Amino acid sequence: MTAPVPEFPAGFLWGVSASAFQIEGSPTADGRGPSSWDAFTREQGRIKDGSHAEVATDHYRRYREDVALMSELGVDAYRFSVSWSRVLPDGHGQFNRAGLDFYDRLVDELCAAGIAPVPTLFHWDTPLALEERGGWLERDTAERFAAYASVVAERLADRIPMWITINEPAEVTLLGYGLGEHAPGKELVFDALPAAHHQLLAHGLGVQALRAAGARQIGIAASHSPVWTAGDSDEDRAAAELYDTLTNRLFADPILTGAYPDGLDSLLPGPVAEDLKTISAPLDWYGVNYYNPMLVGAPTPAGASAFGGIEIPSGLPFAIREIEGYERTDFDWPVVPDGLRELLGTLRERYGDRLPPLYITENGCSYGDGPDSGTGRVEDARRIAYHDGHVRALHQAMAEGADVRGYFIWSILDNFEWAEGYRQRFGLVHVDYETLARTPKESYAWYRDLIKSGR
Ligand code: NOJ
Repeated sequence: MTAPVPEFPAGFLWGVSASAFQIEGSPTADGRGPSSWDAFTREQGRIKDGSHAEVATDHYRRYREDVALMSELGVDAYRFSVSWSRVLPDGHGQFNRAGLDFYDRLVDELCAAGIAPVPTLFHWDTPLALEERGGWLERDTAERFAAYASVVAERLADRIPMWITINEPAEVTLLGYGLGEHAPGKELVFDALPAAHHQLLAHGLGVQALRAAGARQIGIAASHSPVWTAGDSDEDRAAAELYDTLTNRLFADPILTGAYPDGLDSLLPGPVAEDLKTISAPLDWYGVNYYNPMLVGAPTPAGASAFGGIEIPSGLPFAIREIEGYERTDFDWPVVPDGLRELLGTLRERYGDRLPPLYITENGCSYGDGPDSGTGRVEDARRIAYHDGHVRALHQAMAEGADVRGYFIWSILDNFEWAEGYRQRFGLVHVDYETLARTPKESYAWYRDLIKSGR
C-alpha cells in the first residue's frame, strides 16, 4: 500500500480538460466553418493513422452524457475550448448564433452540475479562411482573435469564473509553422517566429477584449518542460539554452516580464516594443501544461533526432536526446513526476514576484489500455501511477513555496491526438471509436476517490 496522497489546501481546484477539435466532431453542424485542422487532416499522410476528426468522440452531440461523467467524477472544473469556426465561420465578420448556442448550452449544463466552466478561446483550430490568408504569420489574425474573444465573452462571461486566451502557442509555432508536423503544415523553421509574436499579441489583445466584456480571472495555458543538458560541452550547453529559450522563455518572458529573451526582438515583426506593453498586461493567473522534461544537446553528425514521433530535422542548432532510466508512456514520453516540481521551482526562480498564481492546466499520459474482454474493466494502473506521482510532486512543490491553485488532468476522454490520430489515448474515460461508448477507466475511479477524500 502506498501512503495516501497528502492533503491539498481547501479550495484547491481539481479539474479535467479537453479541446474542441479533439472531441467535438460535427464539423459542419449548425453553420460551423472549416478550420486549419479540417484541411490538414484531409491532406494525404498528415495523420499517422490516416484518421480525421469528423466524428472524434461525438461530444458535440453527446455533451450531456460527458458532463454527467464529469459530475460523477466529482471535478470542480472542466477546461474545454471554444471552436472559433463555430462562432465565426469565416474567422471574422458576422457571428453564427447557432454555433455560440452550443457553448451556451454546455456552460449551462456544467453550471447545473456544479462544475466550473473554464473555456480556452484558441486551442489550435484556426478558421481556415484566416489560415489561407497567412494565419498566425499575419498580424491581422491577432486583431481578429480579439474581436472573436469579445463575441464569446459578451455571451458567456456572466457564467464563466476563469478564462484561458490561448493554449500552447509554442506548439502552434514550432510544430505548425516551424516543422510542419501540425496544421498548417508549414516548414519555415526560424521564419516561423512571427507566428509566436502574433499569438502573443492575440493573447494581449484578447485579455483587453475579455476585460472590456466583464470577464474575470484571465490566464493562458502554456507548455513548459524542464530542459536538461545532454553533455558537458559548451556546445551542449548552448544548444540546451537555445531550446529552453525557444520553448519556455519565448512565450513566458514577454507575458511575465514584458521583454523578449535577448536577441529575439530583432527577429520579430511589427512595433514590437509597443506590442510588448499589450502582451504583458497583468494576468490573474498563469497556466502550465506539463508532460515531461526534455534532454537537449548539440546536434550530432548523425543529423536528425526525434521525440515522441516528431522528427527534429538535421540542420537545427540542437538535438533532442533520449532520457534513459525512466518508465515511458505509449507515446514514448518519459515519466518524470519530479520534473513538475523542478519546473515550478525554475519558474519561481526565473520570474519571482512577477509570477501570478499558477494552475496546472494539463498533465497526463497516453496508454492504450482498453476494456478487458471478460470483465469490461479498463485497468490502466500505469495512468494511476502517473497521476499519483505527479500529484505528490505537485504537493511537494507547493510545500516548497509554489503557489498552485488547481490541477487539470488531460484528458476526460480518449480523443483525437492531432498528428497521431486516435493512436494515443490520454483519457480517464475510454472511448470505443466504433460505437462511441464511454467506459470509465480505473484511473477515473482513482481520481474520483482522490477528489472525494478532499486531498
Ligand atoms: C497538449 C495539447 O494542449 C493537447 O491538445 C494535447 O492533446 C496534449 N498536450 C497531449 O499531447
